[in-house]
Amino acid sequence: MSEPAVPSGPDLVAGVPIESLLDGIPLLGHAHGEPVVLVERGADLFAVGATCTHYGGPLAEGLVVESTIRCPWHHACFDLRTGEATGAPALSDLPCFGVVTRDGHARVGDKRSLPSRKLSGQGPSSIVVLGAGAAGAAAVEALRREGYGGPITLIGAEPPGPVDRPNLSKDYLAGTAPEDWIPLRPDSFYDDLGVTRLIGTPATALDTTRRQVTLADRRTLAYDRLLLATGAEPVRLSVPGADLPHVHVLRSLADARAIIAAAAGTRRAAIIGSSFIGLEVAAALRQRGLEVDVIGRDALPLGRVLGEALGRFVKSVHEEHGVRFHLSASPRAIRPGQVELDNGEVLAADLVVMGVGVRPRTALAEAAGLRVQDGVVVDALMQTSAPGVFAAGDIARYPEARLGELVRIEHWALAERQGQAAARAMLGLGRAFRDVPFFWSAHYDVTLSYVGHARQWDAVDVRGDLAARDATIVFRRAGAPLAVVTVGRDRLSLEIEAALERNDHARVEALTRS
Ligand SMILES: Cc1cc2nc3c(=O)[nH]c(=O)nc-3n(C[C@H](O)[C@H](O)[C@H](O)COP(=O)(O)OP(=O)(O)OC[C@H]3O[C@@H](n4cnc5c(N)ncnc54)[C@H](O)[C@@H]3O)c2cc1C
Ligand code: FES
Repeated sequence: MSEPAVPSGPDLVAGVPIESLLDGIPLLGHAHGEPVVLVERGADLFAVGATCTHYGGPLAEGLVVESTIRCPWHHACFDLRTGEATGAPALSDLPCFGVVTRDGHARVGDKRSLPSRKLSGQGPSSIVVLGAGAAGAAAVEALRREGYGGPITLIGAEPPGPVDRPNLSKDYLAGTAPEDWIPLRPDSFYDDLGVTRLIGTPATALDTTRRQVTLADRRTLAYDRLLLATGAEPVRLSVPGADLPHVHVLRSLADARAIIAAAAGTRRAAIIGSSFIGLEVAAALRQRGLEVDVIGRDALPLGRVLGEALGRFVKSVHEEHGVRFHLSASPRAIRPGQVELDNGEVLAADLVVMGVGVRPRTALAEAAGLRVQDGVVVDALMQTSAPGVFAAGDIARYPEARLGELVRIEHWALAERQGQAAARAMLGLGRAFRDVPFFWSAHYDVTLSYVGHARQWDAVDVRGDLAARDATIVFRRAGAPLAVVTVGRDRLSLEIEAALERNDHARVEALTRS
């Protein structure tokens, strides 16, 4: 999260010649003391705040698609006409300004407020959102934004409520972000929205015939519409010693706090698992000055998910920062101060973090008789097999529009967008969910941006120069581009996402030629 950019570029209140604007290319300037982008789109001129409301990304370096502007950092999407945050991970709107034209100049006028929406008809008599994570939090905000005025209850097992989970393995764990960055919203935000929060009281049962949820304290809550967004839980390997107190997993703020406390009192950490969470934890603990050994079952970190070239690259980035890898190896036993590997090697470690994947929290859905198949199966409107029950986020197995298959994906922005989509569907405003999956992963100063979805591929093309941190990696199956990773090419990642949205493979090929 960066400070808002210091206003630079022309004074847009004084105005700029219209002929100096290029269609669809944001012009960075300032108005009323804040950074603003002025965008010409056909016959229209738009002016919105230039700083992304997620982590402060520079929208002037983003991409204009039709009448939206997208952030180059993590692909948030805003409506240029209103400033509305229409695509997570940004949840707050941009300031939006009027634009007047006179004497061949465009001048930015006063700030406009976003028109409030009113739901036609009454909407559901009550909505319960079960799971106060990415999908659940985005859903409750979307419900109010769409004008739903009825009762909303947000149930969460995990204090303090919705948190910025991706940060838990990055800046917060590394000690470079304060804890007050972690809650997604202050409590007063939900009070102002009129959302009842029941945080720290997990739901224990779901009755889809009576339409009610039972909580751990035996209370029951009736719902008219229910969103299941219980996410996923970290897997613990069943090796001797896996439940010792110095062995941690990372999902919640409490988990992150426990790792930080343990790191303060030790010099050596072992990370079991060489995928995203394990590697991000390794980077964060290196930044805290710990010696770090990473144990990975595969021959290369991330090789299964990202292929050989990226696996080698990510490995080299971590090695440059002093991480030691122990690959094609698994732990045989964990003891106080030690991890023994199946190849006989013994590593000293007073702190062990297991990052070996997650499993969807589907117990409630299964017990309630919903259709579950490694995730709660939903249709394109995020509806489950039970009437009035929707699911979103890490637990949802949904029909991916381009692949034509049911998939379950564990990405932050996708979970939020599915929560938003489910909210609209619960109000009868649903559209088939078509967003292109996107995630990012940060390793020191290297960020990988991944668009699309490729569980299996038969060809990988690397373009550019990974060592120079300027590359595009395309994953194809039967010649079709399924997913693209970029390193140091943020705007290109947005262009590829827009092409994938349109299923325009020729454009993806053209964009990924060099
Ligand atoms: C440390 C970490 C870093 C990550 N970094 C990235 C990243 O950089 N980029 C990216 O794209 N993705 C990242 N992810 C993945 C991303 O956070 C998840 O995909 C996303 O949080 C899924 O959202 P969700 O709403 O489905 O689940 P969650 O955010 O996990 O929320 C589910 C909530 O439901 C609650 N719950 C569960 N059971 C019950 C119950 N019975 N009653 C009440 N509440 C319940 C849980 O306590 C939890 O708060 C990261 C994940 C972790 C753990
Ligand atoms: S900073 Fe804009 S999406 Fe993250």
